[in-house]
Formats: sequence, C-alpha cells, structure tokens
Amino acid sequence: MKKKVLIILFILILVKKDDLHNNFYRNIKNIVNPNIINVLVNKENKLSKNFIPSELFKLPIDVSYENKFLKKEAAINFIKLSRYAKKKNFYIVAVSTYRDYKYQKKLYEKYVLNKGQTYADLCSARPGHSEHQTGLAVDVMGSNYDYNKFNQTKEFKWMKKNAYKYGFILRYPKNKEYITGFKYEPWHYRYVGKILAKYLYKNNLTLEEFYK
Ligand code: DAL
Ligand code: ZN
Repeated sequence: MKKKVLIILFILILVKKDDLHNNFYRNIKNIVNPNIINVLVNKENKLSKNFIPSELFKLPIDVSYENKFLKKEAAINFIKLSRYAKKKNFYIVAVSTYRDYKYQKKLYEKYVLNKGQTYADLCSARPGHSEHQTGLAVDVMGSNYDYNKFNQTKEFKWMKKNAYKYGFILRYPKNKEYITGFKYEPWHYRYVGKILAKYLYKNNLTLEEFYK
C-alpha cells in the first residue's frame, strides 16, 4: 500500500515537472516595467528588442573586466561586495554584465549552432529573455580564473553566504532547473535589492517561486 502511494507521488512529481517544462517559451508576456529592480525576466516574460536599461554604470576595473556595465544600484552594490571580499582575500570579478538584445541573439545563435537547440535552451536565454539585458545580472569569476568552474572556488562558498547582504541572489540554483528553465549556473547572480534578496535566500526561493 505504502509502495503504491509512493509510486503515485513520484508520477505526480514527474508530471508536475513536465508541466513546467512544457510551459517554457509558451504564453509569453511582454514586460511592462523593465526598469524595476525586482523585474522577472525568464522564458515566459520578455523584454522588448529596443529596451536599454536606464542608469547604466561602468564598473571600475578592480572589480570587473573592461567595459562592463550594470544598472547603477546593482553596480554600487557589486563594487561594495567585490571590494569587501577582496579585503577578506576573496577574488570576485564581473566577467559578463549588461548585454544588449543583439548581443544576446548572437550568443544564443552560436550556442544553437554548436550544441543544438535543446541544449542551448538550457544554458542560454533567447534574445529578449535574458536577465543580462536588464543590467541587473552579473556573471562572476573567482580565484581559479574560470567562471564555468566558479563552484570549485572558495569565493563561491563566500558568495553563497554573503551575496544576499549586497542584494544579489544565485539566480539559477541546482535542482531548480525545472522551475527556472536553466541549468545550474553557480556564476550568475541577480541584483534584486537587499530586502528581497534576504527573503529569497532565507526561504530558499527562486524569483519564479516568489512570483507564483
Ligand atoms: N545564461 C543565462 C541564462 C542567460 O543567457 O541569460
Ligand atoms: Zn549570466
């Protein structure tokens, strides 16, 4: 009897996951407030082709690669995070920040060409669907100089405990791929403001779960 219940539960979980998967890039809504700090950009919510965030701010080179921009509030908090981390001997720099629609389109198309569309869709957002277009997302690199392997660094452990204090969340966590639509990305952080970041962190929630 117990076994039967467990099997039914398992099937229900699978169906639920599949349900969410099937919703990706369906029922797409146009985002009306793209400049708000807690904006939800994902496979169901799209930014316009022409949207460029207000108040883009160039990051200084001690905290980032050259010519990287974030929205001012996110930039100020990222600078604080990176400089405080440095004092504690943690090296955290921004390698990818604001990306415009055209650039995201190129990235996505390159991915599709190299890896096929199914895999590309797990790793790269289609143009208009990337948080990087908001100027609120940042990909970081640590002391192993490989953002792809950021999870192997002491900086990653530090970010896990401290990013929320600066208003950032780990946006695509492990085991929540079926909710976010993207593979685990230990390097991708999203600025949502300190209050929301703390709430999401303490409750182990993604932005999608928060909005639902
Ligand atoms: N890699 C993330 C999902 C993006 O392309 O925005
Ligand atoms: Zn990213």
